[in-house]
Amino acid sequence: MKSVLCILSSEFCNRHNMDKKNVLVLGSGGREHALAWSLSGSPLLGNLYIAPGNPGTGLLGENIALKPGDYASNDAWFGAVAELVEVKQIDLTVVGPEQPLVDGITDFLEERGHKVFGPSKGAARLEGSKTFAKWLMHKYRIPTARSTEFSGDTVLDDVEAWLKVENTEWPVVIKADGLAAGKGVFICKNLDEAMEHLQRIREDDSLRKAAGRVVVEEFMEGEEASVFAITDGRNARLLLSAQDHKRIGEGDTGLNTGGMGAYGPAPVIDSRMLRQVEDTILYPTLGAMQLEGHSYRGVLYLGLMITDEGPKVVEYNCRFGDPECQVLLPAMKSDLLEVMLAAVEFRLEETEVEMSDEHYCCVVMASGGYPEAYAKGKEITGLDKVADDVLVFHSGTRRDAGGKLYTDGGRVLSVVANGPDLRGAISRCYREVEKISFEGAYYRRDIGAKGLDR
Ligand code: AMP
Ligand code: GLY
Repeated sequence: MKSVLCILSSEFCNRHNMDKKNVLVLGSGGREHALAWSLSGSPLLGNLYIAPGNPGTGLLGENIALKPGDYASNDAWFGAVAELVEVKQIDLTVVGPEQPLVDGITDFLEERGHKVFGPSKGAARLEGSKTFAKWLMHKYRIPTARSTEFSGDTVLDDVEAWLKVENTEWPVVIKADGLAAGKGVFICKNLDEAMEHLQRIREDDSLRKAAGRVVVEEFMEGEEASVFAITDGRNARLLLSAQDHKRIGEGDTGLNTGGMGAYGPAPVIDSRMLRQVEDTILYPTLGAMQLEGHSYRGVLYLGLMITDEGPKVVEYNCRFGDPECQVLLPAMKSDLLEVMLAAVEFRLEETEVEMSDEHYCCVVMASGGYPEAYAKGKEITGLDKVADDVLVFHSGTRRDAGGKLYTDGGRVLSVVANGPDLRGAISRCYREVEKISFEGAYYRRDIGAKGLDR
């Protein structure tokens, strides 16, 4: 259906001599494959580049071997990206992951006259600094957990003393201020657990760095869900609500991961709740950021707890979720490129976003052992047997010269199916997952179960 639409609108585009846009996507995961897939359906698209991309994105555009780890500093990497943008005459750079946004890639490219979909460094602090996000929410009365902030040379000792002497309510949540790859949040049921976690932070270099400031907050009871919106700073267009599955084990047990699967829409966010999220969280946040002089442009990911008192913010993220993006974009009927350009050019007011009314399920297939040590280089087979209308997005994969595909990371593939109801989407998704195999393949068998329970 989508491809017929694209051919028709492509002819329309050519007839009307509309400008084609060259696009660069930064990143290499399942989220970036989904972004590249969605953008490649746009009649507005000229050339598509992905840096560094993966074997899946390589089928949709040109992968460019440019990754931050190959450069001595952020500025050196940003400089290489700017050079690529100039050489390939890129009209829009879409930044997938949070780190470059928090480090200021948008400001760097915009100062050189280039368009970027993704917030500025000041605006990306919503994700990059938990103390900034909490300060903003408290100042503008955006519903979130009550919290206390700690900073200074003796920050961890101060948290310890406060928990021992002043805190009376358990559990509490201890959060390191900075980006910590999902490892900086500790839910502590009692003082002993809190002491253990503080010790863990003291002993881990990267955690200690992220914990220069610390937030200790009230534990919120409720069901978690996420809402995503594309915004030009003033106007916003809601995409889908979704639920991620962060733990490795079924029934939400075991270690935290990048995300083992997602589904959307989340039944806990009905239309009344969605309006409440817009009125009490989304627009107040955009307004607050404008008043603070850091207008937010890009996609805003609201991590929410749906409590008895209404929706409250658990966290903001300044980019699409992975694997939530893999269900959001297939559900989007509107042209992603057109909507992104409208957001970047401050004309979202005149742009509508239409979403499918179907249900979407994404199951992540991972290497056995993930998120701890796992083997790489296992041959992946069965992709050719997957039904045409089910999507498979790559993350940790590698293709050899002969075209064979191998595992090359923790999260390997995201399989995405839709259906008129959630049950149908889930069963179609698992039917296709079972056709794909590699040694040690692991996936959760309960993705979406929480939605069915409702
Ligand atoms: P964050 O990185 O802030 O999203 O936190 C990671 C996870 O910790 C969230 O997805 C929640 O499951 C949990 N969490 C964080 N803060 C709270 C809170 N105040 N109350 C309950 N759970 C929380
Ligand atoms: N799936 C969670 C995240 O992208 O942060």
